[in-house]
Amino acid sequence: MTFWETDDFRAVLAEADTLFPPPGLPDGFLSPEERETLSRISCEAYAQESAAARILAKMLWACETESLRSPDEFLAEPQRWMSWTILSRTLSGKGMKPVLAEAGRVLPACFSLTHSSGTAAAVMLKKACPPLSPDTISAGGSAFDFQETVGCDLVKPGAVTAGMRAMFYSPREMRWMEHTKIPHPAEKIWAGKEAAYKAAANNGTLAFTPAKWEIAESDSEELTASRMAETPAFRLYTLTEEPMIFVVAVALCKGHET
Ligand SMILES: CC(C)(COP(=O)(O)OP(=O)(O)OC[C@H]1O[C@@H](n2cnc3c(N)ncnc32)[C@H](O)[C@@H]1OP(=O)(O)O)[C@@H](O)C(=O)NCCC(=O)NCCS
Repeated sequence: MTFWETDDFRAVLAEADTLFPPPGLPDGFLSPEERETLSRISCEAYAQESAAARILAKMLWACETESLRSPDEFLAEPQRWMSWTILSRTLSGKGMKPVLAEAGRVLPACFSLTHSSGTAAAVMLKKACPPLSPDTISAGGSAFDFQETVGCDLVKPGAVTAGMRAMFYSPREMRWMEHTKIPHPAEKIWAGKEAAYKAAANNGTLAFTPAKWEIAESDSEELTASRMAETPAFRLYTLTEEPMIFVVAVALCKGHET
């Protein structure tokens, strides 16, 4: 398990099978609602990764709020976290920005989850978000102050095909990929587009249109993401490149612009 911390967020990544042994879902950790949601997923590997990402998000919240001495203390008490539920579907079943709820109350934190190829990761913004009712959220209602938001994505090195480049990458992105010395530029662009979308998709209505998100290098050689002129830009952090590329997007707003 690997942890990262910046001024804006905390993040964690783990192999799903290090959190609980396959097959099936873990004992503890999940609420009855989550267990029901995950047991309806036909692909067992997807359900296990999704469970792992939820466990990691709860771990981030628990380490922040429950005075734990270490993440091991979280893992040692799986039953203690079963009253917490990650909601990541609207009432109509569409994917949405995940929130953490307890006893009908949404906890004031902004999360993003990602999972792929047996790996799961979660990120939590340090700044608290305004409280909202789960009904507003699961109906697809507005979730967060857009200025403070975070998203993340995991991509396997080599995952971007020629077809994806042709269809979703801008001329500027293509030029940058040709000249940059950084490893895996195409995958970093893709993960950046997804992470920024997941940060911005705060009301359940924004569709993922990768061609409209552009990834660029700033003067300080950091990567940023922006979607046409409609949104503030996002600063991208590549937290690790092996075995998966893990990218986090944080909204660039007052306090982030340095
Ligand atoms: C969101 C999306 C880009 C993530 O794609 P992915 O790379 O396949 O999957 P990841 O593992 O990285 O992320 C999945 C997690 O993202 C979160 N998520 C799902 N939808 C989300 C959304 N709209 N915004 C933010 N986060 C979302 C969930 O926590 C999900 O995990 P879960 O399914 O286990 O609950 C993908 O689901 C997508 O393309 N959604 C399109 C939604 C859309 O266009 N809706 C139209 C609205 S009009």
